[in-house]
Amino acid sequence: MYSLKDKVVAITGASSGIGHALAIESLNRGAKVAVCARNLEKLKAAFPQHNENILFAAADVGREHDCEQFIESIIGKWGRVDVLLNNAGITMRALFEDADLSVIKELMDINFWGTVYCTKYALPSIRSNKGVIVGVSSIAGYRGLPARTGYSASKFAVQGFLEALRTELLHTGTNVMWVSPGFTSSNIRNVARSANGTAQGETPLDEGKLMSAEICAGIILNAVQNGKRSVVMTGQGKLTVWMNKLFAGLADKLVYNHFLKEPNSPLAKYEANRG
Ligand SMILES: NC(=O)c1ccc[n+]([C@@H]2O[C@H](COP(=O)([O-])OP(=O)(O)OC[C@H]3O[C@@H](n4cnc5c(N)ncnc54)[C@H](OP(=O)(O)O)[C@@H]3O)[C@@H](O)[C@H]2O)c1
Repeated sequence: MYSLKDKVVAITGASSGIGHALAIESLNRGAKVAVCARNLEKLKAAFPQHNENILFAAADVGREHDCEQFIESIIGKWGRVDVLLNNAGITMRALFEDADLSVIKELMDINFWGTVYCTKYALPSIRSNKGVIVGVSSIAGYRGLPARTGYSASKFAVQGFLEALRTELLHTGTNVMWVSPGFTSSNIRNVARSANGTAQGETPLDEGKLMSAEICAGIILNAVQNGKRSVVMTGQGKLTVWMNKLFAGLADKLVYNHFLKEPNSPLAKYEANRG
């Protein structure tokens, strides 16, 4: 089992949700933790326990230079990176025909390119330490979801990138893996991009009924420690991935109907003149 004790763990997007829970749980498991997000004040405020084992950095992972600086700051403080958790991410809720193309670009910049940039700069250290690179993907990385074209594309891209990299590094002792949470309680749906790129400002789900970010983080870190290849979370998530593999046409219909039932579903636009 891979121990996190005294390992240096870098986590992107740690001011809320899954990233924040990953940071707290990594600290609990004895790691030194470097966290980043765009808003440094909000990030620091999320961790009342400031101590020598936490490094805070302002970084927008959609910018290559920020990612390079984030990784350099970690090497500067602790001389190494052992585990990289590519967690920072945003989502969207808008039909493709209504969405500005800038929304799709922003999703790719943060979710996909953010993962590529951080991995690029951390890889030399992680490889020499036989460490772990993780992508926090989604069920949308296996199954395209309506009104989330850019999000699904970004997560498919993350998984393709990491699967290829995993295979390149197969005999180096470095584990490359991805994890796919199902619906998890967090801030992601409040800040989901609407058609014009503004935050939608509300969640269509009852967040209290979803998997907690803490449980999700525990599953992710157990998978890291157990050297897993990938993890699909929640019963609904597992069923969706399985059904899509075996009965893709049926999955189209079930996924459509599921997202049509959401409050203010963008799909309602197509129901008026359904063919
Ligand atoms: N929650 C779910 O249901 C769910 C399901 C499947 C997968 N996921 C994945 O889990 C990951 C974490 O999402 P979450 O649900 O925990 O969302 P969240 O609560 O909204 O947290 C997202 C974090 O990422 C940071 N962030 C956003 N854009 C960033 C950027 N450009 N550069 C650096 N940091 C950035 C945010 O801080 P700032 O805004 O201050 O930068 C925040 O700390 C995402 O990759 C998401 O796709 C979530």
